[in-house]
Amino acid sequence: MKPSLRFFLAGFLLLILQTGLCYGIKWIALSKTPLALALNQTQHCKQLEGLVVSQVQLCRSNLELMQTIVQAAREVIKTCRKTFSDMRWNCSSIELAPNYLLDLERGTRESAFVYALSAAAISHTIARACTTGDLPGCSCGPIPDAPMKMKKSGSQANKLMHLHNSEVGRQVLKASLEMKCKCHGVSGSCSIKTCWKGLQELRDIALDLKTKYLSATKVVHRPMGTRKYLVPKDIDIRPVKETELIYLQSSPDFCMKNEKVGSHGTQDRQCNKTSNGSDSCDLMCCGRGYNPYMDKVVERCHCKYHWCCYVTCKKCERTVERYVCK
Ligand SMILES: *[C@@H]1O[C@H](CO)[C@@H](O)[C@H](O)[C@H]1NC(C)=O
Ligand SMILES: *[C@@H]1O[C@H](CO)[C@@H](O)[C@H](O)[C@H]1NC(C)=O
Ligand SMILES: *[C@@H]1O[C@H](CO)[C@@H](O)[C@H](O)[C@H]1NC(C)=O
Ligand SMILES: *[C@@H]1O[C@H](CO)[C@@H](O)[C@H](O)[C@H]1NC(C)=O
Repeated sequence: MKPSLRFFLAGFLLLILQTGLCYGIKWIALSKTPLALALNQTQHCKQLEGLVVSQVQLCRSNLELMQTIVQAAREVIKTCRKTFSDMRWNCSSIELAPNYLLDLERGTRESAFVYALSAAAISHTIARACTTGDLPGCSCGPIPDAPMKMKKSGSQANKLMHLHNSEVGRQVLKASLEMKCKCHGVSGSCSIKTCWKGLQELRDIALDLKTKYLSATKVVHRPMGTRKYLVPKDIDIRPVKETELIYLQSSPDFCMKNEKVGSHGTQDRQCNKTSNGSDSCDLMCCGRGYNPYMDKVVERCHCKYHWCCYVTCKKCERTVERYVCK
């Protein structure tokens, strides 16, 4: 790739990151779009789940972008679930899109993370599709879920919170545009070096956001002068930082099942007896204890190298002890 083209792409990415707004999470329901639906005709837009009327309109006028957005929705779900697989709240309820439970309907820490991740994911997927040429037009046009088209329910405070957290997601993505370099020259002497800005994996961006989730700041909606702002609840002398995730409502500890607050509980969740992190049996099971069970794992074994050049292996079965929360 010619350097000038690389520069162009880097600039282009920034442009997308700045304009590719998406403040909402209902659109994650697009992940349910049947794989067989080609999405190349405007009448397909009506068949998509999770779009309100105005968004169906956006779909019609941005048809070439829709396949990419559907892909982004699938990425959000996959990445969220993976990132939280070791936590009591494991993001499984994101699959209920667009009819979320209270864990994601209210202004919780969990919804803060999902808003940030979905904002990052949509820009990430579009940027990637542009750089790989999967998206020929690469238009930076509007994207479903235009900022002020959110559902009527939800207070002004919730809207401000979601706007803020989506912005954090996009900032993390922007900051993660890594400088990648490659050396050329005699036996890798690096006498010539080419560098460009590349996209990090969404998984790494999600890990970054998870750290922010763990240290998120609780805020309140407070009048200051003629307007109301979100300010940190405990130390409201400082404004909310641009880099921190914020939430309005505390979450339950997710130990017990309680549908009223959107908690599935951790009964029957797998836990790790030797870990001392959040997936440890102690923390995961909230001190209730755990039950062991035997599980069979199939592994490749007795591998032999054959000259030249392949390897043959046998399959061996091994039983391992695993644990689930009481
Ligand atoms: C849409 O895509 C399908 C499957 O790829 C194809 O058979 C069909 O001809 C396309 N229709 C249009 C209008 O491009
Ligand atoms: C996530 O949590 C739910 C509810 O506790 C549980 O049913 C599901 O199996 C968990 N998923 C994984 C991958 O552990
Ligand atoms: C349990 O945790 C330990 C320590 O973090 C880790 O080495 C091990 O792979 C984990 N086991 C499973 C089954 O995840
Ligand atoms: C467990 O915790 C100790 C101290 O809190 C830490 O030094 C150690 O690395 C942890 N071990 C694992 C496997 O996470």
